[in-house]
Amino acid sequence: MLDRRLAVAPMMDRTDRHGRFFLRLLTRHTLLYTEMTTTGAILRGSRDRHLGFDPRERPLALQLGGSDPVAMAECAALADSYGYDEININAGCPSDRVRDGRFGACLMAEPETVAACIRAMATATRLPITVKHRIGIDKRDDYGGLVRFVRTITDAGCRSVIVHARIAVLGGLSPKANRTIPPLQYPTVWRLKQDFPEIHVVINGGIRCLSEARDHLARVDGVMIGREAYTNPYLLATADREIFGDAAPASSRSAVAEALANYMAAQAAGGVPAHRITRHVHGLLHGIVGARGWRRVLSGASATPDPGWRDTLLAAAAAA
Ligand SMILES: Cc1cc2nc3c(=O)[nH]c(=O)nc-3n(C[C@H](O)[C@H](O)[C@H](O)COP(=O)(O)O)c2cc1C
Repeated sequence: MLDRRLAVAPMMDRTDRHGRFFLRLLTRHTLLYTEMTTTGAILRGSRDRHLGFDPRERPLALQLGGSDPVAMAECAALADSYGYDEININAGCPSDRVRDGRFGACLMAEPETVAACIRAMATATRLPITVKHRIGIDKRDDYGGLVRFVRTITDAGCRSVIVHARIAVLGGLSPKANRTIPPLQYPTVWRLKQDFPEIHVVINGGIRCLSEARDHLARVDGVMIGREAYTNPYLLATADREIFGDAAPASSRSAVAEALANYMAAQAAGGVPAHRITRHVHGLLHGIVGARGWRRVLSGASATPDPGWRDTLLAAAAAA
């Protein structure tokens, strides 16, 4: 059974495999998500590029974008064969591009389509199938609509939902604005948990530290953190102890930098340029003395790492 008490949100361009590897150096137990990957990309593109990951990233969920049950089932079978721990359906992204492909938040208006996907996927895999959605979309933002959506997908076999606690405005607001302008409504998600005690309800949106996460955990089953985990990833260093009750000590920033340097060296040997990794780790020293030096060293390492880059990197982390 997957432990979903804390997760880092799926984020395009951020939770790619290098971003996730870095996050995993900070926390062993937090559930990680891929960026949204469309069924079209997986079925028509390079499977290894879209689905491949380092087993050390686990526990790991694949987020799928799509609404065709046959394609979703095919991708679910592939995800299973690659070793993912969960498959998540994106019913929360408000982007126009996604809407034109008939997936993302617009699926909240089509609960039967999501249910059909879940049923088809369940014939292809025994992995848990979860849905990430909003509390509603504009013009359909009443609590009754949310309950109907969740009832329909749970009747189809979904046992865990991740709810971004704001509505999505489709048309008129950019995805970025859709993450700030519609107000957060945590009580709606708490109420959903009361009305669906038998399923796992994970809350998402605007959560910025572990003490906030703990407060939510008194009312729901899990917490998903997005932007703050990217801007200030070191907040995850105490998550294993504070959220999951693991007594192992938190990794120091220096230890994380050292593991990162080893990872970069191994990746470089396989032809992965340093900048594909360093772009995700700028926040490691967020908010403390030395942050600027760390970012400067990262920019240097991202260009053409000189033979001394490893020492420079470790010195910059140790200077904090
Ligand atoms: C850069 C960026 C990319 C995102 N990409 C995705 C995505 O691929 N799939 C998804 O479901 N949500 C995506 N989101 C939304 C987040 O998963 C999350 O729901 C949202 O940021 C609210 O959580 P937060 O306030 O903790 O950041 C993205 C958010 C950001 C900032």
